[in-house]
Amino acid sequence: MKGSIAILPGDGIGPEVVTESLKVLTAVENKYNHSFDLTTGRVGGNAIDEFGTPLPQETIAICQSVNAILFGAVGGPQWDDPSRDVRPEDGILAIRKSLGLFANLRPVRVFPSLINASPLKPEFLENVDMIVLRELTGGLYFGKPKKRWTTTRGRRGVDTLKYTEAEIVRILRVGFELAMKRRKKVTSVDKQNVLESSRLWREIAIELGSEYPEVELEHMLVDNAAMQIIRNPSAFDVVVAENTFGDILTDETSVLVGSMGMLPSASLAALPGSKQALKTVSLYEPIHGSAPDITGKGIANPIGSILSAAMMLRLSFGLEEEATAVESAVDRVLLEGYRTSDISGDGGNLVNTSTLGDVISGNI
Ligand code: IPM
Ligand code: MG
Repeated sequence: MKGSIAILPGDGIGPEVVTESLKVLTAVENKYNHSFDLTTGRVGGNAIDEFGTPLPQETIAICQSVNAILFGAVGGPQWDDPSRDVRPEDGILAIRKSLGLFANLRPVRVFPSLINASPLKPEFLENVDMIVLRELTGGLYFGKPKKRWTTTRGRRGVDTLKYTEAEIVRILRVGFELAMKRRKKVTSVDKQNVLESSRLWREIAIELGSEYPEVELEHMLVDNAAMQIIRNPSAFDVVVAENTFGDILTDETSVLVGSMGMLPSASLAALPGSKQALKTVSLYEPIHGSAPDITGKGIANPIGSILSAAMMLRLSFGLEEEATAVESAVDRVLLEGYRTSDISGDGGNLVNTSTLGDVISGNI
């Protein structure tokens, strides 16, 4: 098959990890006789430096003309001054919003070979296999008013947590549909003891739940969820959460897997697996950021990005066998003991970013 992919490496370790995913995609092209047409675009801090905006028009045009987007990471200390009115992060937020990528799938699967890379006791990590579904285009990230100003009594800042019924219904529906194909359990995360938007969220979850009688629906306050994810992670199947809650909880889930560098994500505008999903543009990115502290050292873990590319093969191109081949190559290489430093707690064969990418693509 032929497909088109926008490559947006971004800042920091973004370009380092995306380079390794491209090796993997080339291996897939060669083995399965596919051809991916790649177009690279600028986004984030480096785009601010060159074009004055984190998301240049040219990059928007590329994103609108492809089947899928492979994204690295954005941000860095040189663009962090709070008084700046443009920030690298605005680039990724604008892409998510403008393409309607409301459903962010963050699968969390513990690799048996990496159990010792996690600081948690091994018995807590058995059978961990959940997917956190993060709402991605609403909530605190986008609600208006959102601003800072100065009054006679000092400086003020406001962000707004706002959700419409339609936004809540569509994300929860994706959650129920995902659960139907998995272990049929949905944990809906909210803070309904305090927040009005959460009370609406819970009400809608209950209403929608009646359409999915086979699915066990559980409600959990976000603070409790943060605890249960560490205390009893194997109890979760599909976790659905508001944008900010999902952002926070997924950094936490990475501790189960051993490192932030391990987790992939897919951001979609339609239900995964539906015909419509194949027609819309989706974005794939690791959940980690640009990691300025390790940029340029060649030690970043490329697996989060590589597994994101696998999700792209499956969800944007319908290439199930190829996606599984990439995931199996990662499993095999980890079993053989190859490790970047972030997951080398149990020793193993310590390699750099590029070597890990070579070994994984060589296993396809
Ligand atoms: C993530 C990141 C982003 C987010 C940042 C870089 C804006 O933390 O994808 O989880 O908060 O969504
Ligand atoms: Mg995050």
